[in-house]
Amino acid sequence: MNPGCKKYIPFTPVSLPDRTWPDKKIEKAPVWCSVDLRDGNQALVTPMNLQEKLEYFKLLVELGFKEIEVGFPSASETEYEILRALIDGHYIPDDVTIQVLVQAREHLIRKTFEAVRGAKNVIIHFYNSTSTLQRKVVFKKDMQGIIDIAVAGAKLVRELTEADAGSGTNYRYEYSPESFSGTEMDFAVDICHQVMETLGATKENPVILNLPNTVEMCTPNTYADQIEYFIRHLPNREAAIISVHPHNDRGTGVACTELSLLAGAERVEGTLFGNGERTGNLDIVTVALNMFTQGVDPELDFSHIDHVRDIYERCTKMHVPERWPYAGKLAFTAFSGSHQDAINKGHEYMRESKSPYWEIPYLPIDPADVGREYEPVIRINSQSGKGGAAFIMDHNFGYHLPKLMHPEFGAVVQVECDRTGRELQPDEVFELFKREFLNISEPYALSRAKFYEEAVAGSSANITHFSGVLSVRGSFVPLESRGNGPIDAFFNALGQAGIEGYSFITYSEHAISMGSDSQAVAYIQLRAPGGRRIFGVGTEHNINFASVKGILSAINRFENGKL
Ligand code: KIV
Ligand code: ZN
Repeated sequence: MNPGCKKYIPFTPVSLPDRTWPDKKIEKAPVWCSVDLRDGNQALVTPMNLQEKLEYFKLLVELGFKEIEVGFPSASETEYEILRALIDGHYIPDDVTIQVLVQAREHLIRKTFEAVRGAKNVIIHFYNSTSTLQRKVVFKKDMQGIIDIAVAGAKLVRELTEADAGSGTNYRYEYSPESFSGTEMDFAVDICHQVMETLGATKENPVILNLPNTVEMCTPNTYADQIEYFIRHLPNREAAIISVHPHNDRGTGVACTELSLLAGAERVEGTLFGNGERTGNLDIVTVALNMFTQGVDPELDFSHIDHVRDIYERCTKMHVPERWPYAGKLAFTAFSGSHQDAINKGHEYMRESKSPYWEIPYLPIDPADVGREYEPVIRINSQSGKGGAAFIMDHNFGYHLPKLMHPEFGAVVQVECDRTGRELQPDEVFELFKREFLNISEPYALSRAKFYEEAVAGSSANITHFSGVLSVRGSFVPLESRGNGPIDAFFNALGQAGIEGYSFITYSEHAISMGSDSQAVAYIQLRAPGGRRIFGVGTEHNINFASVKGILSAINRFENGKL
């Protein structure tokens, strides 16, 4: 028992026993609002400079955001100037609304209106903190005192908008009871309703009520209950757009967002990859792609996720962790053997069944849908199994190793991983393959070979003749034989070189393109003296010679103690 935990006051959830959200589904995209350039930027060690903010803004527009919070222009001269540069430089498309944040304080609101002059579409987003804790320790005010701040702010916002009528700017309003989730719900409803009334909200001209989970305080279901409770109790509900603004203190920002959408939220504020104060804001990329994998169009375009991540990392100087959903460098990589095997089988199944659906175990999304089709999905380390090495040989080098051969090559790769103690790159896997199967010419190598067919009168079957020279530990042995096919003919010749005790088990072949060159690959499995089974591989332009080389590869491997 650790008594240290007793200093924390457990969260008191709102009571909503007849909640309906658990039975709902997310069926359409919410309105997305990026707060990267405000909440995200404000949390950076080095906030973005003008160039970086402009580049980031363009990215957000390209991704499809129609509402973008661009800053807190009354907070600093830099923020003010960046906003002016966006407006005066005509960077804001007509269908994009910029949003500016301001505390509900008179001089700051006035400065904010000055800062947005000339913009086409603007959301004035004002806020004050309403939570029990902030009222007690920061503002030292009762509920009425907090309502007075919000209502005075709303009054001024409305007055300044009306005074600017005819300027060509379309104003909309957003009010945030900051620290909403730490606020008594009836009080949150009351203050928001009074703000709506003061602003003159109507169904045609609704106010955005943004309900922040400023600091995550409890499990995501409690936030969803608060959202459903709020929506049910808000008078004139149609005159409001319900927005959520989750943070990630407990690591459940994505879950809070998804459950709050079930609970009726219509709009989501967040950032790319969850940048933002402390543990960050909600990661919009994850929520949007989660929707995508459920067949719901998120109406944001993340089809080039690496490009998005590169710009994000360059501008913010933050790093997207390797295991971040969808965007992390390792998000689509499987090291474990059983996972690699299942992915491999999933690919095969899709190829063979021509299924129109994505049905690959361990990959919740097709990497190609986020522009990552070329990366190695399967990587090889000591945890990887037989399927992984075969996958690399197939996908990277075009060798379709027969199933029976997977364990044999897998074991070779495993030994090398254990020896090096690190991951093997695909080229290293190929080098191992060549060393083990293709470049093995001791003790036996063919120095000359010829096949020819002889028709047999009265029979449809031909006789195949083989003649060649075998190099055996440096000396040359001439061979001459015949059989009912090239493999049989060559096998029959082996005895002349003193090679005894091998029998043929399986054979497969395919063509392989290496650059402009096309070759045949033959995989031969033999039973060696003593009964052990062993594979050999041969490549040549001519399939007969490839087969002969495959036989010698298997024999050489056995003679060299490879099994
Ligand atoms: O997290 C928060 O509560 C905020 C508000 C200013 C909306 O960022
Ligand atoms: Zn925030």
